[in-house]
Amino acid sequence: MSDVTVIGLGPMGATMAETFLRAGHRVTVWNRTASKADRLVAQGAVRAEHAATGELLVISQTTYQAMYDSLGDAGLDGKTLVNLSSGTPDELREAARWVAGRGGTLVTGGIMVPPPGIGRPGAYTFYSGPKDALDRHTATLEALTEVTYVGADPGLAMTYYQAQLYMFWSALTSYMYAAALLEKADVKPSAFLPFARQLHTELADDGPMGYLKILTGELEAGEYPGDENTLHMQAVGMGHVVETLAAAGLDTTVPTALHRLFARADAEGRGREGVTTVVESIKKP
Ligand SMILES: NC(=O)c1ccc[n+]([C@@H]2O[C@H](COP(=O)([O-])OP(=O)(O)OC[C@H]3O[C@@H](n4cnc5c(N)ncnc54)[C@H](OP(=O)(O)O)[C@@H]3O)[C@@H](O)[C@H]2O)c1
Repeated sequence: MSDVTVIGLGPMGATMAETFLRAGHRVTVWNRTASKADRLVAQGAVRAEHAATGELLVISQTTYQAMYDSLGDAGLDGKTLVNLSSGTPDELREAARWVAGRGGTLVTGGIMVPPPGIGRPGAYTFYSGPKDALDRHTATLEALTEVTYVGADPGLAMTYYQAQLYMFWSALTSYMYAAALLEKADVKPSAFLPFARQLHTELADDGPMGYLKILTGELEAGEYPGDENTLHMQAVGMGHVVETLAAAGLDTTVPTALHRLFARADAEGRGREGVTTVVESIKKP
């Protein structure tokens, strides 16, 4: 089994190191706060004195700045760094240049599961950067998650990651607003859960409520027919949602932003089109 060094032993990195150990790899670990390595060393990992130890370095830290802080001036000749930390696409591109300038190769990644999902079926990570470097280490990285390569531009992994995270947070936040509103009417979240589940299932289906697929077709065609339900109608309805939340004494920050976006698309003259026309306002802030 191959050698791998895990840098960053927060909840994610520590679980990655454990998962590599369980898969039979020789694992070296490094963390700024050295004591976080103790538990892993007890499980068979080797503690590194410096972060730039080994040939395959898997990094999981809060930011990309942490990678610079951890590696300092170390040479990276022949090393492959796989950074699974959060950042912006531009930060990832800059990091790829920084690593190359020290003789190494950077593969960037956005891991799409929390710690309990690492090493479990269905987990995947968006990877970008040099495919040959990723291919050399795919067998090792597959211990963590499925390897999903999205392209050579090092920023792409984070673009996919953030697109997905934005949808995840928005969906969960909308559920929190919905639950808070219903709670004001003495309805428990568990009573509403079946309907929330149904909505999410239907959105992903191919039926009449299968809006993910419907939107995809409209977005790619650049045409947003509003024959059956117009954006204007939806903007008015969204205004009622904001009024209802406010009347219930709840925060309206996110729903108000949504209402403003719909209302702007309406004011821009696209009220007779379908709701997907909102994307034109998103593209022109
Ligand atoms: N947790 C999740 O569910 C999840 C899911 C997907 C992706 N992610 C991403 O995975 C990454 C790691 O997340 P996490 O949940 O494990 O915890 P985290 O709190 O984001 O990361 C903690 C790690 O970062 C290190 N660190 C932070 N700043 C540093 C610096 N300037 N220099 C050196 N080390 C530094 C910490 O070292 P110390 O121990 O010394 O403080 C620790 O090892 C993040 O980028 C996160 O966005 C997390």
